Amino acid sequence: MHVLKDLIQLDRKADAPVYLQITNAIIHHIRRGTLRRGLKLPGSREMAEHLGIHRKTMLAAYDELMAQGWIEMIPRKGTFVVRDLPDIKPKKIKPGEEIGQYPGKTFFHIDEKKVIPFPVGQFRDPNLLAINDGFPDTRLAPTELFLREFRTVARSRGFKKYYQYGTPKGPEYLRETLAPFLSDTRGLPITASNVMITKGAQMGIYLTTQLLIKPGDAVIVGEPSYFAATLTFRQAGATILRVPVDDQGIDVDAIETLCKKKKVKLIYVIPHHHHPTTVTLTPERRIRLLDLAARYRFAIIEDDYDYDFHYASNPILPMASLDQHGNVIYIGTLSKTLAPSVRVGFIIAPENFIDAVAHLRRSMDWQGDSMMEAAIAALYHNGVMGRHIKKVVKLYHERRDHFAALLKDQLHDRITFKVPDGGMSIWGTFHDVDLKKMSAHAAKKGLLIGDGSLYNTHTKNYNALRLGFASLQLKEQDRAVEILRESM
Ligand SMILES: Cc1ncc(COP(=O)(O)O)c(C=O)c1O
Repeated sequence: MHVLKDLIQLDRKADAPVYLQITNAIIHHIRRGTLRRGLKLPGSREMAEHLGIHRKTMLAAYDELMAQGWIEMIPRKGTFVVRDLPDIKPKKIKPGEEIGQYPGKTFFHIDEKKVIPFPVGQFRDPNLLAINDGFPDTRLAPTELFLREFRTVARSRGFKKYYQYGTPKGPEYLRETLAPFLSDTRGLPITASNVMITKGAQMGIYLTTQLLIKPGDAVIVGEPSYFAATLTFRQAGATILRVPVDDQGIDVDAIETLCKKKKVKLIYVIPHHHHPTTVTLTPERRIRLLDLAARYRFAIIEDDYDYDFHYASNPILPMASLDQHGNVIYIGTLSKTLAPSVRVGFIIAPENFIDAVAHLRRSMDWQGDSMMEAAIAALYHNGVMGRHIKKVVKLYHERRDHFAALLKDQLHDRITFKVPDGGMSIWGTFHDVDLKKMSAHAAKKGLLIGDGSLYNTHTKNYNALRLGFASLQLKEQDRAVEILRESM
């Protein structure tokens, strides 16, 4: 049905003739932008039938509009709103520019307390010089192989079902492929019933929080910790308790002390390459944390977003692989393994939790992009993922070493850092450097870099940055660090 049909209301008792009422209504809506420039209008016969008027009346309205220059008739094509409106100076519309008069603000109230201002990014050309937060080099994503799998899966008869509505847990093919893969590589004794596919780790954190936390519940995070997770807990009304993170990971003694004092509902842990400080949680602390979880009956979110990228040794087995009691919600993502825009992650948990969280997800998202997820399953199935991980780990290892050497050589005592065992960034603390000024100077010289404010909490200003090395080739690293040095 054409929008115009809804826009005209005739007043048969009015003095104005019907054709003029139609003319004026159409002009009004062209001016407002409801009928956009270049829009094709319905034929006079169709409109006449719809409005219950004689076709000649409709033709008279169209003639009047044409005479005034609001619409034009193009032979064999139809009737259109003109592109240059007669009473508005013609002007080119720039991308993103507002047209029409769509209200800038709601007329009803939005509760400010519900709007937690999450930092948001913007799409950037991967060739722009940037020291990011620790993101993969998306130029290395196995695009061709992915497209090949996608094409095969999308065409094959057996997978046609993934065009349909299905389960919020994700395609069986991916869950059944991922379960043995994670079992073999991460020691997780799971089946597909313990797996739910999400849109990245963030969805896993959000769903878990929404399911477990009610306002006032205590959630423990590290000091410092991943800002987006903290905001997610805060959004659910949690009371945030912070415990120190040292060079062995989150301080488990401090967690125990807190648990003795008050009921703790949830602990958020990033075992590999803690965000932002990049430390790895030691095996001893993992085991102690599991014991505490069993004793004090709290849930653990084990956000292992960076598992695949450990260079010092094999990655350390997740707490979830040793969890006897069902305390751990294990969360993973392909954002670092493939690309952040491939919104695929997973929750691994006891089956009752997976069922509950699937119902919750269904209330805001029926399911993921099933066909894409099936293609990703094929990448695992055919060994492409395994080979890709091996290849980039080698490369990122080299990039980490080169970058660490550069920071040492070029920035000397202006920065201190520990070379991380893995991950995609170095946590650098700056000395006698104003990071806001440095970031602004670097931008002028063509290097994008944050100012560190994301990592500060209201108790601490770290004057530190996560310096992402993985997305930069060695030559790009050279140039980036040179600009950094010049910007201090
Ligand atoms: C610790 C941590 N968890 C989760 C995420 C988000 O991952 P995803 O893109 O899968 O939502 C990030 C992103 O950098 C992260 O650093």
